[in-house]
Order: sequence, then C-alpha cells, then structure tokens
Amino acid sequence: MFSELSGINHRPLPFEYYTTPLLWNDPYISKQMLQHHLNETTDLASRNKQFIQKSCRWMLEHFAINPSSKICDFGCGPGLYTSAFAEYGAQVTGIDFSETSIRFAREEARRRNLPIRYLLRNYLEYVPEEKFSVVTMIFCDFCVLSPQQRKTLLKIFYESLEDTGSLLFDVYSIDYFQAVQEKRAYEFDC
Ligand SMILES: C[S@@+](CC[C@H](N)C(=O)[O-])C[C@H]1O[C@@H](n2cnc3c(N)ncnc32)[C@H](O)[C@@H]1O
Repeated sequence: MFSELSGINHRPLPFEYYTTPLLWNDPYISKQMLQHHLNETTDLASRNKQFIQKSCRWMLEHFAINPSSKICDFGCGPGLYTSAFAEYGAQVTGIDFSETSIRFAREEARRRNLPIRYLLRNYLEYVPEEKFSVVTMIFCDFCVLSPQQRKTLLKIFYESLEDTGSLLFDVYSIDYFQAVQEKRAYEFDC
C-alpha cells in the first residue's frame, strides 16, 4: 500500500498528463461537474451567479454587443454566458467537448427560445469555419493548457476572429498562485 501511495504522490512534470477530457466526459464525474456549474453560490466549475451577471454586463458594454455581433464562446460549459449574450440579441456559438454540458445547454436554449448554435467539439481541434467579432474563453481554461496547446489555441482564435475582432480570456494572477497552498488528503472507504 505504501509503495502505491508513494507512486500516487509522485509529482508529475508540469503538463505531463492531459486529464481534462476525463474530468468533463466521464459519465459520473461530468454529471457532478454540471451540478457545480449550476450551483449559483460557488466558484467551482463556473463562477457564482452574481459574478457572472456582473461580468456579462461588463462584456456586453465593453464589446458593444448588439444583434450584429457574432460571438463564439470556447469551453462554453452549460451555456451560462452564451445564454446571456443571446438574450441581448447577439448571434452566438458555443463550443465544448462535454456531452453532458452541451446536452444541458441545447435543452436550455430550446426551453428559453434562444437561437444559440452549440458545437460538441474539442476546441484544440476546431477548424474555424467563419469569423467572429468576439471570441471568449472564460474561467481560466487557458491556464490548464500546455505551452504547445496554448500556441495551437491562439492560432485557432486568430483564425476565428474578424480583423477588428476581440478576444477575451481570463488567467490566474501571480498573486493568486502565491496564495495557493498545496495539500493532500486521504480517506479510508470500505
Ligand atoms: C472551467 S469550465 C468553464 C465553463 C464556462 N466557460 C463557464 O465559465 O461557465 C471549462 C469548460 O471547458 C470545457 N473544455 C475543456 N477543455 C476543452 C477542450 N479541449 N475542448 C472543448 N471544451 C473543453 C469543459 O468541458 C468545461 O465545460
């Protein structure tokens, strides 16, 4: 058991493993993640509702979003931002590779009568088919990617944007990292 634990505790090299698809597509875990997205009081899979509303207001104003705006949200999850943009009349596309989230997002768009186009895709393999005035990637998704994946994605963003288009993405700050404390916890379950 101790040698197994020591293997588990072996610190991988930065970006040695890309486990993101498991987190968002495993049948059990992805359902739990959806619950976290929809929990309006926490900042786990999505930010809390108050923050989302405030940042949507900022984005709508800052990018002067209107019915001629074409927005693409990479890693849109269950569509918390795409719905807000569409309610403002923008033409909206959401890309995500989580079947659980895209299913929820599509049902929600149908229920609220919002003409949002959702693509079930890996955004790292997305081949831009059209140009957008605004591309967004929200909740620090850029940070989990390796330098090579970031390079790939920046190229996709570049090819997805109109000449005068804007890219919005958020990242963790150095101060945030300095405040993070690593910890390990074990539970015995029989
Ligand atoms: C932290 S969540 C943020 C979701 C949403 N932007 C929000 O703030 O509510 C990250 C999202 O990106 C998606 N995602 C991660 N890697 C992806 C990839 N390579 N291709 C497509 N979607 C991806 C996940 O399925 C998940 O929905």
